[in-house]
Amino acid sequence: MKKVMLAMAMTALLLAGCGDNADSGKVQSPLASSPATQFATNLGLSARVGQKIFFDKTLSGSGKMSCASCHDPQSAYGSPNNLSVQLGGTDMATAGTRAVPALRYTQVTPAYADLLDNPDGISVPGPGGGFTWDGRANTLADQARIPLLAPNEMANIDAEAVVTKLRQAPYAAMFEQAFGKDALANTDAAFANAMQALQAFQLEDPAFHPYTSKFDLYAGNKIGGNFTPAETRGLKVFSDPATGNCASCHYQGAGLNGSSGLFTDFSYEAISVPRNPAIAANQDPAYFDMGLCGPTRTDHSPSPIGSPNKFCGMFKAPGLRNVATRNTFFHNGVMHSLEQVIRFYNTRDTMPELWYPTVGGTAKPTPDAGFPMYGLITTQYTGGTVQKYNDLPAAYRGNIDTQLPLDGRTAGSPNPMTEAQIADLICFLKTLTDGYDPAAQNPASGACGK
Ligand code: HEC
Ligand code: HEC
Repeated sequence: MKKVMLAMAMTALLLAGCGDNADSGKVQSPLASSPATQFATNLGLSARVGQKIFFDKTLSGSGKMSCASCHDPQSAYGSPNNLSVQLGGTDMATAGTRAVPALRYTQVTPAYADLLDNPDGISVPGPGGGFTWDGRANTLADQARIPLLAPNEMANIDAEAVVTKLRQAPYAAMFEQAFGKDALANTDAAFANAMQALQAFQLEDPAFHPYTSKFDLYAGNKIGGNFTPAETRGLKVFSDPATGNCASCHYQGAGLNGSSGLFTDFSYEAISVPRNPAIAANQDPAYFDMGLCGPTRTDHSPSPIGSPNKFCGMFKAPGLRNVATRNTFFHNGVMHSLEQVIRFYNTRDTMPELWYPTVGGTAKPTPDAGFPMYGLITTQYTGGTVQKYNDLPAAYRGNIDTQLPLDGRTAGSPNPMTEAQIADLICFLKTLTDGYDPAAQNPASGACGK
């Protein structure tokens, strides 16, 4: 989605809310009094049922996999390991096709729409909202059906298989208490209530939206929320339309329903993340995961295949809270460190040979001094052609977004961000990690101290 002109206005908004000095002109965060900051002592009954279901491994075809197997509470309910995609199925050996998103802070995600009003109030409406990388589930309850029945995830044959196990679960009585006597008798009704329970758990338990990061203290003008100079500079890079410009899609501002700082505007863009050879489905050269236009999502498929389609290649811009704790990044999990992701944004266009394979060239036995080692490809070639945008068929490359820092500048031009700006940006992104101790002292030295 193109957001011409709006980035400038947005930075003005951002900077008005977040001055260089932590004491200057900041508004009290609405989070201060939000129920989300309380502890989960009294979850509603259906949310408690949802909690049981979320951690119940018997509710899978293998008997070995629960929601928590992939959405680890210790990792902001994201991936428990650094695999690009997880293994599931009845044999626990069937590979997925996408990386596990973290489930924190999805509670105000609106339903998917082709023309969703952008929460920043400035961007033109475009594809936005919904759950999963392609928005094909409109609510958390709808979403929960997918993994329970997916052959490569929890692999139940059908809803009946799930409900049969629920009838035998130690919390069956609690289920009936929550949803009524005989609530487990009718399969469809019981399955639907189980999905409602999973939704209630994610919405009600503050562990899914704790707002305990340093950024929250900073945004709320609270004790312990003074940014170091590096963090303050990093926030500037994040929002500056001339350098990082991250806020243009990872919108920081006051969110929906009184929430704040979600670092996504729920919009979809094609940024042409490199193809991931570690995904089994990608062994087939004709297979492309193209997000909104399929094949997983089916309502925007090109017809016939190869005909123009503006939805191809678009994936949801994820929220960035706890991003520094993630170990797989992007819809296909092709990258494994935050620094690498930021360097991709910085050099996708200026040094595409670091990210996409080269064909027809000659590999140098040793790369030149100064050839960067942070890319996905660490072999340097003489000659050959870089397969830029290799995970999107050529017919759809016109959909690729042209906003900074991925503005399509020619190879060899200067990068949008300097080395110092990248370092500062990482310092800022680390302030989005939950569980910050307000009594911690800012470091006076080190990468993020000065
Ligand atoms: C085998 C690993 C695995 C299991 C088990 C699993 N998930 Fe997921 N989850 C994923 C992946 C991968 C995605 C992204 C799917 C996509 O984009 O198509 C996802 C996406 C989601 C999302 C969407 C998040 C967003 O920001 O859009 C929610 C919510 C979710 N899962 C909840 C659950 C619940 C509830 C369960 C248990 C019923 C569960 N998951 C079980 C791997 C898993
Ligand atoms: C044009 C919109 C846009 C801009 C600008 C943008 N992003 Fe993204 N970002 C996305 C989209 C879309 C994805 C998901 C892409 C995919 O998986 O194919 C994403 C994914 C990410 C991820 C992976 C998160 C995860 O959970 O896997 C990180 C980290 C990230 N962006 C950080 C940044 C930073 C830092 C900047 C600024 C330097 C930035 N982004 C600028 C749209 C954008």
